[in-house]
Amino acid sequence: MGVARLTTLDLREMKKKHEKITMITAYDYPTAELVDEAGVDTILVGDSLGMVILGYTDTISVTLQEMIHHGKAVVRGSKRAFVIMDLPFLTYQINSEEALRNAGRTIQETGAQGVKLEGGEEVSKAVRKITRAGIPVVGHLGLTPQSAGQMGGFKVQGRDIKAARKMINDALFIEEAGAFMLVLECVPWQLAKVITEKLSIPVIGIGAGQYCDGQVLVYHDVMGLYTGKRPKFVKQYADARKEMLRGVNGYIDAVKKADFPGEEHLFTMPAEALVALLDN
Ligand code: KIV
Repeated sequence: MGVARLTTLDLREMKKKHEKITMITAYDYPTAELVDEAGVDTILVGDSLGMVILGYTDTISVTLQEMIHHGKAVVRGSKRAFVIMDLPFLTYQINSEEALRNAGRTIQETGAQGVKLEGGEEVSKAVRKITRAGIPVVGHLGLTPQSAGQMGGFKVQGRDIKAARKMINDALFIEEAGAFMLVLECVPWQLAKVITEKLSIPVIGIGAGQYCDGQVLVYHDVMGLYTGKRPKFVKQYADARKEMLRGVNGYIDAVKKADFPGEEHLFTMPAEALVALLDN
């Protein structure tokens, strides 16, 4: 029998039992297979895809088609993890009908288990519409990269009392609208702790301290594969880029020196066929 995927109920249970929830991004089949085998609870097909995979400078440029293309591969590569798809910029902000159409298309075409969207009260109608159609939704508050321009850049959010109160209200709106999980990005740890304690749904932090119900990081940051700017909240756990460079350099050197292919990589012709070939 195959491995069962985690469900929203399993994740809610984990919060109740104070068991930390792990989330990491993945954008392709082999990475999904690897993080799933490692035992991660949830995989996020983040729109960080734009920067770490497609070489864009932001997440705004990412299209729904690009997300779906990568999401399909992640679902095929994973067995146990709950897979969440980011809804990209302008696929859920215009109105809740369009939000549902795009969320539905994403789930239908990728086979993922849930969608994530950024924002508070202003997207709560969309959250309600999508969840009422039976699609699990994850909210995202704090630093929301799709509106980084309006926020004046990639800055910590919720530092003053007015912003902190607004974020708490937004979190309650998102929970009340039906979201089953919330991501908090780049938020003072004290505020993240208050929100985590106030909500009954799991709160996953990135740059939001240790009191959240779980943590999320971008795979390429964890593995040392991204060469762009690295935020303060990132911790690198491996230097995969160094190891990958070592592999490619070894291959180039061997080809240049004619050390590759070796005897063990060759195919041979039967002697009589070779004689006939050379005789002609
Ligand atoms: O796009 C992404 O990878 C994200 C995480 C950083 C939470 O939204």
